[in-house]
Amino acid sequence: MDIKEMVVQALGEALDDQLTNQITLVVEKPKNPDFGDYAIPCFTWAKILKRSPQDIAQQLASTISHPLFSKVNAVGPYVNVFLDKTQISLEVLDRIISQKGNYGSNAEGGNRYVTIDLSGPNIAKPFSMGHLRSTVIGNAIANLAAKNGYTPIRINHLGDWGTQFGKLIVAYLKWGDENKVKQQPITELLRLYVKFHEEAEKHPELNDEGRLYFKKLEDGDPQTRELWNWFREESLKEFFRIYNLLDVSFDYLHGEAFYNDKMDEVIKMLSEKGLLEESEGALVVKLDEYELPPCLIQKSDGATIYATRDLATALFRKRNFDFAQSLYVVGNEQTLHFKQIKLVLNKAGFDWEKDMVHIPFGMMLQNGKKMSTRKGRVILLEEVLNEAVDLAYQIINEKNPTLENKHEVAQQVGIGAVIFQDLKNFRTNDVDFSFEQMLNFDGETGPYLQYTHARCHSLMRKAGNFLPQTGHSINEDEAWPIISHLSRFGEIIKQAWEDYDPSKIARYALDLARFFNGFYAKVRILDSENRDARLNLVYSVATVIEECLRVLGIKAPRSM
Ligand code: ARG
Repeated sequence: MDIKEMVVQALGEALDDQLTNQITLVVEKPKNPDFGDYAIPCFTWAKILKRSPQDIAQQLASTISHPLFSKVNAVGPYVNVFLDKTQISLEVLDRIISQKGNYGSNAEGGNRYVTIDLSGPNIAKPFSMGHLRSTVIGNAIANLAAKNGYTPIRINHLGDWGTQFGKLIVAYLKWGDENKVKQQPITELLRLYVKFHEEAEKHPELNDEGRLYFKKLEDGDPQTRELWNWFREESLKEFFRIYNLLDVSFDYLHGEAFYNDKMDEVIKMLSEKGLLEESEGALVVKLDEYELPPCLIQKSDGATIYATRDLATALFRKRNFDFAQSLYVVGNEQTLHFKQIKLVLNKAGFDWEKDMVHIPFGMMLQNGKKMSTRKGRVILLEEVLNEAVDLAYQIINEKNPTLENKHEVAQQVGIGAVIFQDLKNFRTNDVDFSFEQMLNFDGETGPYLQYTHARCHSLMRKAGNFLPQTGHSINEDEAWPIISHLSRFGEIIKQAWEDYDPSKIARYALDLARFFNGFYAKVRILDSENRDARLNLVYSVATVIEECLRVLGIKAPRSM
């Protein structure tokens, strides 16, 4: 529990009968510590009770008492509250030591389901930086859901359906090479796709062939289906190399194709509710009253589209998971799409659409420019991740050449650096991708947090594999910023979830590491009389940093 919250609660209890508790309690932090840790100005009460604020302050000061307060006094119109830091440190440290990784969790979600739509790369296309952001942000939000008592369901809505697959199959049948697809599936499939478009410029009838093949695919033609399935499997192999590097997994790989047989129902439902209108041969749901363009449901050639599949998806998720919330971690550029989906569902009378939330994010930039595929080479992302790992290895090798499992640690540090750089600022900001910045061990980085965490473990090892014990307080001025910050963890977990904002956890962890490193620079730990109390604090800091990293999807090695 937050210390301020503890104070407000303690004051609230003391005030109950004495004064009106109608007024929201104003608790301030005085700039001058001589005026206590918290101060309550009594002006608002004065107006209501028609007594002088000084008088009220006096009365309050004499009634308030609580085990967490060492002193309460009145100075003019203020009541000053002094905290019993010994008592508070005891409470905070005991909670961390007994709850470990569960510290900061709450049961608010009551185990209800939250579906999280994350990653969603497109088959036969490279895994983009945008998909990386969705994967990393979505995974952290899923962890936050769990920390707040919900059951997260991670769903990868693969882009594995649509007219482009008809075109791809045509291209493969005309110009494809089986071995190349096996060796470098995405490079080869992308080449075929690009060739198709070049050829179609000259021979537009190819487009009709593409449509025809997609129709075959939709109708379940075995040969087309087999090719599609093969492309999908090969692409997934590549994607899963990336997911393994990131250590992200999914509860369901329900891509767009999964909804192929669930589309008729959507069209029937919309038509029965009188929402479908014809427009130039296509079927749409008009959204004029919201001043938005219509939502296209079925093209003039009878094919369904992305939006139709997302409508089917929403219905399927509600039916199967009866979600408390359904989250979509998808880039800014799809804001209109999700608005339209929600409005169509709303017009169809599904009031649960209000529980569907689009969680947008910005772009990944390098030197201010969109990070895109390097010329002539396709698999950028996997290379980028591997490069981060290689660079991390070099740094670790320099800093700690005798470290035992250098390769494993380099993997954790390199990948952690990429993830942290993505999550440390609010998601709608663009991310400036820089190896140099993300791997700076002294900067606001993942490696800095991992290093601080490893430092804590190194201290505990040197103390003979120290084991923490409850029942010990620590009353030292240098320790207070850490204790006070540790006490706020649960509050931050709630806020980060409410705002779907992992950067709150990243910031919190950076502050905690900074407070701890300040303490470490000033205070001797191993050869001090207060050794065990200080080591309890070290243990608590390590535990909470590790938990922050875990929520963000980053590993916390114990030595590095
Ligand atoms: N495949 C899509 C893309 O790359 C992302 C899927 C997002 N999820 C969804 N339910 N529409 O843009």
